[in-house]
Amino acid sequence: MRPDSTVTLNTGREMPIIGVGSWGLKEKPAEVIAEALRMGYRMVDTSGDYGTQKYVGEGVRKSGVPREEEFVVTKVEEDEDAHESAHRQIQELGLDPADLIVIHRPPEAGAGVGLWQGLIDAREEGLTRDIGVSNYTQEQIQELIDETGVVPAVNQIEWSPFGYSDEMLNFLNKHGIILQAYSSLTHAKRLDDARLKAIAAKYGKTPAQILLRWDIERGVVPIFKANRIEHLRENMGIFDFELEPMDVEKLNALNEHFSALGGKISYN
Ligand SMILES: NC(=O)c1ccc[n+]([C@@H]2O[C@H](COP(=O)([O-])OP(=O)(O)OC[C@H]3O[C@@H](n4cnc5c(N)ncnc54)[C@H](OP(=O)(O)O)[C@@H]3O)[C@@H](O)[C@H]2O)c1
Repeated sequence: MRPDSTVTLNTGREMPIIGVGSWGLKEKPAEVIAEALRMGYRMVDTSGDYGTQKYVGEGVRKSGVPREEEFVVTKVEEDEDAHESAHRQIQELGLDPADLIVIHRPPEAGAGVGLWQGLIDAREEGLTRDIGVSNYTQEQIQELIDETGVVPAVNQIEWSPFGYSDEMLNFLNKHGIILQAYSSLTHAKRLDDARLKAIAAKYGKTPAQILLRWDIERGVVPIFKANRIEHLRENMGIFDFELEPMDVEKLNALNEHFSALGGKISYN
């Protein structure tokens, strides 16, 4: 595996195995995105409600990386007309089409079949190459599939060894849906965990690198955020080692349904 390695989506298209997020990028966000792309990252995640979308577009354009090598993910909100919103998002990005547009979160009731149909229409119109969901439960995804026959390409959810669900991963694998892991570094809240640090020391790696490696070895695609260029560089160092099965087991055992956003994660 390398930074530009890909996983195959259920539509047959390829998606990079790691991405950089843009929620909470503070100073010079366009420069951070451009630098990440120059460094070798190929996927960038944004959303209309992060306030970073135009900087992502700017960073993509100034990076010098050919557009066809990049993969830009954005989102529509659950209270919007998804089709109209997709138009707005690509306008704000200044990129046409987007590579992936996902529903940011399910609506208060149901799975949002109308929203999903809006994204299907957006894809048919060529506004995005692929469509997916975020923060969806298995039941909600099943409802979208049953009602429209269209399977999401990804489910973007919070995911780390401190909070994950084998049941969710098995369900997504069964449908060929790629799990995009957000807050994959736990918002840096668990990087000091002694058990994680011990594993990192064994490989001469950092806790952040171990968390990201844990994802890619399971076919999970991590999205992390870094304001600091040295963090972007450090997180590139995950392709020259492999976790031994006993260490994967130790990482798996850290699950405590931790959510970086507070409270416990539930995938149901
Ligand atoms: N779909 C959704 O509902 C949803 C929700 C949340 C997030 N997301 C997406 O996922 C992205 C990532 O998640 P996140 O921003 O919540 O959290 P995250 O990636 O888990 O954590 C970000 C924090 O980790 C630090 N960091 C990065 N690399 C590090 C390293 N090597 N060593 C130590 N610290 C390191 C960053 O520091 P510096 O910034 O100082 O470099 C920042 O404080 C978001 O930006 C967003 O694009 C999606």
